[in-house]
Amino acid sequence: MSGEAKLSAPSLALRETGGEVPTHVAIIMDGNGRWAAKRGLPRFEGHRRGVEAIRRAVRSAIGLGIKYLTVYSFSSENWRRPAQEVADLMGLLKRFVRHDLADLHAHNVRVRIIGEREGLSPDIRALLDEAEALTRENTALTLVIAFNYGGRQEITRAVRALAEKVKAGDLEPSAIDLDSIEAHLDTQGIPDPDLVIRTSGEQRVSNFLIWQTAYSEFVFIPDFWPDFDDNTFRAALDEYSRRDRRFGGLSARAV
Ligand code: IPE
Ligand code: IPE
Ligand code: MG
Repeated sequence: MSGEAKLSAPSLALRETGGEVPTHVAIIMDGNGRWAAKRGLPRFEGHRRGVEAIRRAVRSAIGLGIKYLTVYSFSSENWRRPAQEVADLMGLLKRFVRHDLADLHAHNVRVRIIGEREGLSPDIRALLDEAEALTRENTALTLVIAFNYGGRQEITRAVRALAEKVKAGDLEPSAIDLDSIEAHLDTQGIPDPDLVIRTSGEQRVSNFLIWQTAYSEFVFIPDFWPDFDDNTFRAALDEYSRRDRRFGGLSARAV
């Protein structure tokens, strides 16, 4: 596999706009089906081209110095799609991990998977485990793949785990706080997203990181996901750098 060709990005210089680069960018990759429909192609072709856009996004993120990139690949609700489309999406994930894992590892990318493992086929679970284990020590970028992920489901699992600890006598209810809840989320140890990008013009959260995005900035882009490229990414970061994040307090900017 020609890993170098895929991920190295000699033309990517650090941004010259002077804007602050977010630590964690999370992307709701939407619009694969509409991208395909617009061209008279099957939805699968949109998903296939969507994987190429993920590769571009990873390359851009490394070049930009972003430390965490989360991609929403399959939601808990996406099981509602026709069986063939679900099978296609499972197949694309498998192919992505099989084909790109060595390349990601060579580029010092750590892979983490969030979402429910139960309900996924054993071969997919094994691949996800392998990806996490192989890249565990990598430090350039953490690529978080949200697969079979739903924010409500994630919070429900965290609450259940805390309740089990209370039942076992290992935890006082009064000790349940923001930190202990966060420690039981799939995203444990990952900083909250600074920026959430959603493509395709839809302006909703669709059960994505609902706990973690409490104070994230949202940028909505009209382009369909397969068209996402480095320029789109930079434009979203420029928009982000113009935002005034207050976190409920007062502006840190001089007024
Ligand atoms: C995003 O594209 C990919 C997934 C949700 C898996 P869609 O498949 O949602 O494409 P649209 O929204 O139907 O165009
Ligand atoms: C959100 O997109 C899920 C992913 C991008 C994986 P959807 O296309 O499933 O969202 P809705 O149904 O339009 O809200
Ligand atoms: Mg969609």
